[in-house]
Amino acid sequence: MVSTFPAQIQTNGSSYILSQSDRQQSVSPNQSLLPLSAKVNDRDNLEIGGCDVTTLVKQFGSPLYILDEESLQTACRQYRDSFKQYYKGESQVLYASKAWNCLAVCAIVHSLGLGIDVASGGELYTALQAGANAEKIYFHSNNKSRDELIFAIESGSTIVVDNWYELNTLVEIASENGSSTDGPYRIMLRLTPGIDCHTHDYIRTGQLDSKFGFDPNALDDLFAFVSKKQSFLNCVGLHAHIGSQIFEKQPHQDLAALMIEWLKKAVTYGINITELNVGGGLGIKYVESDDPPTIEEWVKPICEVIEQGCHVANLPLPKLLCEPGRSLIGTTCVTAYSIGASKEIPGIRKYISVDGGMSDNPRPITYQSIYRAVVANKMSLPFTQTVTIAGKHCESGDILIKDAQLPLTESGDILVVMGTGAYNYSMSSNYNRLPRPAAVLVADGEASLILQRESYQDLIRQDCLPERLK
Ligand code: LLP
Repeated sequence: MVSTFPAQIQTNGSSYILSQSDRQQSVSPNQSLLPLSAKVNDRDNLEIGGCDVTTLVKQFGSPLYILDEESLQTACRQYRDSFKQYYKGESQVLYASKAWNCLAVCAIVHSLGLGIDVASGGELYTALQAGANAEKIYFHSNNKSRDELIFAIESGSTIVVDNWYELNTLVEIASENGSSTDGPYRIMLRLTPGIDCHTHDYIRTGQLDSKFGFDPNALDDLFAFVSKKQSFLNCVGLHAHIGSQIFEKQPHQDLAALMIEWLKKAVTYGINITELNVGGGLGIKYVESDDPPTIEEWVKPICEVIEQGCHVANLPLPKLLCEPGRSLIGTTCVTAYSIGASKEIPGIRKYISVDGGMSDNPRPITYQSIYRAVVANKMSLPFTQTVTIAGKHCESGDILIKDAQLPLTESGDILVVMGTGAYNYSMSSNYNRLPRPAAVLVADGEASLILQRESYQDLIRQDCLPERLK
């Protein structure tokens, strides 16, 4: 029999695992520390998607990314359905695949009707190989190469043009081709909104001093240029993104209002803007005190501001797009590690080392991100020690969690770090030549491999040994 979660793993009054009634009320996945399907089974082990985490580690090894399909599907549906409910015009949710781009994830979001935001030729290639529909792929980045632009054009994706260099290159490519045989290239323009929000400096993008987007103070020149080049460029929309891991709702409402002003200006230049993309950015719960809005609470006011703005300006409702990454996939995944060495420095600190670290999760060392963990094979034991979880890399800063609250642990226990779906695998590396972990997708008691564990052979696959060194 599967028990409800034990009180012992509640911290500061908030539980890591959702109660059955919470799940039935369809909690927003971005507000839950563990994936929605997480349970504690009768062996006192953590179970996700009906799979015992300790069994998964025996079968697939560790570290192991474990992705809960129920959580990912729920998040996709909540975004999609909230737009349907609160917006009278057409809408399209895109998955910002930079959060985790691989064939299986792209295929899942595509199957639920989402489009895909890609930020490089590699992400575009993966999305296409996963069967995603190019009409729903939008290509970002602030420095697309000529080859990437051509790849995007040939695939039929929409290019979100970031700057004059790209705009001029596109016109050049189109002129060389004697204008495109398939008609003008479908583009959007990314503008810098000049909106500040409270998040880590590295993941703020909306402020004026940003490498992304056209200067909003030079819109006249931009729109005048685009309106003259309509035989080459079909500018269907405007785009902006203010940053990531944001808990406030106001900045996105301000952005929506600002985009209406941009839209009104574009119309005066005879540019037929039919799409507005308000970007992503909704935050997730990494620790008990994080309190992000639900997906629905984020979507609703944005829709209201756009509808109201268009009504006042007497403009038809544009197709409304957004492109969340973290809030779709962040809490759907955990990383399971095996605990190895430990070291107690009396009066100072106890280190517990795991078999991964900054190579599979570079966020703590990059952004000082805070994570929470549980011990998958000791779920009901009370937290009785404060320890520092260290990775295995040759780097003092390779600490996954400082001052983690855990039950007493021993070598061989399985440590599960929560909320690792976004920007973990996608930012992973082979530092110290660690092979990247495997990833499994779990649902209904079945685990399917979605990323094979890298082997030592994989690590030298791209190495070349010149003849004279042999
Ligand atoms: N759209 C654009 C144009 C973006 O640049 C981003 C994220 C998103 C959408 C998705 O934002 P989200 O919904 O995931 O917040 N590596 C950092 C996050 C970088 C975000 C980059 N852009 C981290 O690990 O926190």
